[in-house]
Amino acid sequence: MGLKEKIIAGRAVQSVIGLGYVGLPLAVEFSKAGLTTVGIDITAEKVDRVNAGDSYIRDVPSEELHRVVKEGRLKATGDFSVLKEVDTINIAVPTPLRKTKDPDISYIVAALREIRKYLHKEQLIILESTTYPGTTEEVMLPLLEEGGLKLGSDFFLAFSPERVDPGNEKYTTKNIPKVVGGVTPACTELAVALYRSAGMNPVPVNSSRVAESVKLLENTFRSVNIGLVNEIALMCHKMGINVWEVIDAAATKPFGFMPFYPGPGLGGHCIPIDPFYLSWKAKQSGFDARFIELAGMINSDMPFQVVIRVLESLNMQKKCLNGSKILIVGVSYKNDIDDTRESPAYDIIRLLHNQGAEIFWHDPYVTKLEERVGAVKQLSLTPDNLKKMDCAIIVTGHSNIDYDLLVNNCALVFDSRNVLRNYKQENIVRL
Ligand SMILES: NC(=O)c1ccc[n+]([C@@H]2O[C@H](COP(=O)([O-])OP(=O)(O)OC[C@H]3O[C@@H](n4cnc5c(N)ncnc54)[C@H](O)[C@@H]3O)[C@@H](O)[C@H]2O)c1
Repeated sequence: MGLKEKIIAGRAVQSVIGLGYVGLPLAVEFSKAGLTTVGIDITAEKVDRVNAGDSYIRDVPSEELHRVVKEGRLKATGDFSVLKEVDTINIAVPTPLRKTKDPDISYIVAALREIRKYLHKEQLIILESTTYPGTTEEVMLPLLEEGGLKLGSDFFLAFSPERVDPGNEKYTTKNIPKVVGGVTPACTELAVALYRSAGMNPVPVNSSRVAESVKLLENTFRSVNIGLVNEIALMCHKMGINVWEVIDAAATKPFGFMPFYPGPGLGGHCIPIDPFYLSWKAKQSGFDARFIELAGMINSDMPFQVVIRVLESLNMQKKCLNGSKILIVGVSYKNDIDDTRESPAYDIIRLLHNQGAEIFWHDPYVTKLEERVGAVKQLSLTPDNLKKMDCAIIVTGHSNIDYDLLVNNCALVFDSRNVLRNYKQENIVRL
């Protein structure tokens, strides 16, 4: 039986390298569709937890994970030699930025070095990590062919961007259409067959470069529009206009307008990072991606703007930041999730620290902050605790926070997400 027949018959053995926010839901989706799947991760704790059916990703319920592991459809390992036995390999490892804002694809390269050791005929490799256009053909293909096997006749290679939105219950790994671009048409066909066999909805495109660019366009679109609305928010503040009301009213137009909302800065593993993958690659072709750079500048300045506004508001109450007790409410990068990667809360805390503020934080989803933040204390929301605060800054507006308690007990509440839109109290300041 050839690879394509095996995939279509659901007889292929799948593997997913990198069992994080992207890889674990994908591996579980494959196994829920009845496909035998192996997950590989270099973090031993994740491997153990997957095998124990104990999920560490909120979007993957432990009961689901436990069921597919118990039924023998999913197992995890740190041993790459299992790749000898698998037919397909999906790669979902991190793609961060270096301090210089250059792409860091070292995790992809490390995974490829392992794959190359066990690469065999009739194997399909699909990269799902976000990366710059050309990675699949220019970096992955030569590395894989180093062992002597040839693309097309021996193995197949494609790119399919992961578009998952953590915490989104309506659109999940299963029902978000899956853009797929192979290095050759046969590669695309096989990758399409794989996603179809898992009950997903593949959208084929003509090359891996197009598929790589699709993801970057999507995230650049968000970054630029958020940058635009952040600038409008700063402008409206200077002009004494309520930006939130402007956006809500503009959003009543049934066509030609899509609302984006200002906020305290970008966060997460995608929007603050991915556009720079594109601008970096564009620069190599002699092209300056100006929108990307400008939006990046405006968005990364927002934590500073928040701190300035808090400083001004304290000043109105004859207080200064130095020595003030400031509570950060919501530290994850968006509402109702536990992920704090790249959260603007970190920059806001750093800037407040620099001004001598005493900082406290509260987040019902997060148990621990990154160590780099230094001295900050976790605080439970009680009237007594809140009364001691000089200001509470809502950085992320989780739906399970008691905002009545906050507004009724804090001297000053700075709302950077407009979650207090229905409150009229005078101690509220909006971004
Ligand atoms: N998190 C999101 O919402 C999201 C959405 C769309 C796309 N993406 C993209 O998907 C990719 C993965 O992101 P993520 O959020 O799942 O990251 P993550 O950090 O949650 O997970 C990555 C996993 O890969 C493992 N890993 C690292 N190097 C490895 C290696 N050489 N071999 C095996 N395992 C290795 C890590 O231990 C970790 O468990 C990134 O390119 C990201 O930009 C993320």
